[in-house]
Amino acid sequence: MSLLQVDGISKRFGGLLAVDNASLSVPQGSITGLIGPNGAGKTTLFALASGFLPPTSGRVTFADEDVTQEEPHLRARRGIARTFQIVQPFQGLTVRENIAVGAYLRNKSRDAALAKAETVAQTVGLAPLLDRPAAALTVAGRKRLELARALATEPRLLLLDEVLAGLNPSEVRDILPVLQQIRRSGVTILMIEHVMQAVMNLCDHVYVLAQGRMIAEGAPRVVCNDPAVIEAYLGHGAAARIRAEGGEHA
Ligand SMILES: Nc1ncnc2c1ncn2[C@@H]1O[C@H](COP(=O)(O)OP(=O)(O)OP(=O)(O)O)[C@@H](O)[C@H]1O
Ligand SMILES: [Mg+2]
Repeated sequence: MSLLQVDGISKRFGGLLAVDNASLSVPQGSITGLIGPNGAGKTTLFALASGFLPPTSGRVTFADEDVTQEEPHLRARRGIARTFQIVQPFQGLTVRENIAVGAYLRNKSRDAALAKAETVAQTVGLAPLLDRPAAALTVAGRKRLELARALATEPRLLLLDEVLAGLNPSEVRDILPVLQQIRRSGVTILMIEHVMQAVMNLCDHVYVLAQGRMIAEGAPRVVCNDPAVIEAYLGHGAAARIRAEGGEHA
């Protein structure tokens, strides 16, 4: 069953068609990837899926219900949570309090929200830092905090916008099992990611967006060898050049 379905969605900003008739389907229980060059429209697509932006046209369906016109807080109630590419924690609050901000969605009392924050901190590996001010976290810590804040809303679907960006290779390796654990706990994931090692390791299926259009989809290994995808990243003629260079070295 598809948990999130996006059908023919478009978003126009003045003269720019940032997302152009794009469709995708995220199966329940999957980790689905969304890749594409800078400015392709990936974050805009997330904003459309989570309700932060209204589409120019097209439809968003979550758990078989049309949510296209629904406000973000109502979609959050249904179980859609997103992280933000630019992480901005409440600097003056502790890690615990920052995570609790997400937990208030389903916990009315402060005590319950803070308790939920502790559980989530354990999942993402922030338990030892719960009482630190968020301002003291490293980039890797802030990324985990962003993940924790979204998880604290107890989502069915997590939209991760480059949660691995800015991490070094060993930090990336450390966080991959966290994402796998989140999936095992029953949360479906749609992730925007530039770190191909992560896409290869985690994703069941990958969509490729370029200049607002969905240009390819499939298993990660197939998609990365698709000439249309290589050209979208490296420019026109790149696939042929790579083939030619491969031939010289053979
Ligand atoms: N609110 C906005 N108003 C006007 N233009 C916008 C707005 N948001 C995004 N854009 C433009 O839409 C295009 C797609 O941007 P978007 O941020 O969705 O790309 P992206 O694929 O997430 O890129 P990146 O990999 O750099 O994060 C870009 O040209 C961007 O400048
Ligand atoms: Mg983006």
